[in-house]
Amino acid sequence: MAKIGILVGSLREDSYSRKIALNVVDLFPEGYELELVEIGHLPFYNQDFDDKNAVPDVIEKYRSKIKEFDAFLFVTPEYNRSLPAVLKNAIDVGSRPPKSNLWGRKPAAIISNSPGKISGFGANHHLRQVIACLNMPVVQQPEVYIGNVAKLLDDNGKINSEYTNKLLQRLVDEFVELIKRYKA
Ligand SMILES: Cc1cc2nc3c(=O)[nH]c(=O)nc-3n(C[C@H](O)[C@H](O)[C@H](O)COP(=O)(O)O)c2cc1C
Repeated sequence: MAKIGILVGSLREDSYSRKIALNVVDLFPEGYELELVEIGHLPFYNQDFDDKNAVPDVIEKYRSKIKEFDAFLFVTPEYNRSLPAVLKNAIDVGSRPPKSNLWGRKPAAIISNSPGKISGFGANHHLRQVIACLNMPVVQQPEVYIGNVAKLLDDNGKINSEYTNKLLQRLVDEFVELIKRYKA
């Protein structure tokens, strides 16, 4: 049994990233519980919160929620060749104060996507750089960059591409193996 938090790097109502994330939930075996973690309500991280013992309630609650998970799935679009600020902020908030980094040794998997062809490569790799600093082991292969995402989703938000579903299943299988290794 493992609990996996899903962080989506978009607040958009019709977000492709969120739709991809919901498709991926169905690919996990029994015993894996997945939950979308809300991040849009978090204030921008201010170091004074922690230095001056003035952590807002919403941050306390968010940090408590993050502690519940054994692993994290990041599904993100690319903003200006990097990860969206909302996702970076959510990671920063959970990384401080320094001795309370909540991400350390928690396995991660990354999916980037875009309606364009470059498929969020920049976001994907900037995110890898960030989580390396936080000591998160991450699925290295397969790398998942989903381009032309709008064309891969049907009217119900389901992925209509066998190739993409197989790629996502391979990612999930590797992620499950990584989680098992870290829980052992
Ligand atoms: C501020 C901003 C910057 C963007 N920069 C990029 C980019 O660098 N590369 C890219 O492929 N798409 C870029 N886009 C387009 C997004 O990929 C597109 O809006 C996508 O639908 C956002 O993901 P979502 O559907 O999950 O909200 C950008 C969009 C915004 C709003």
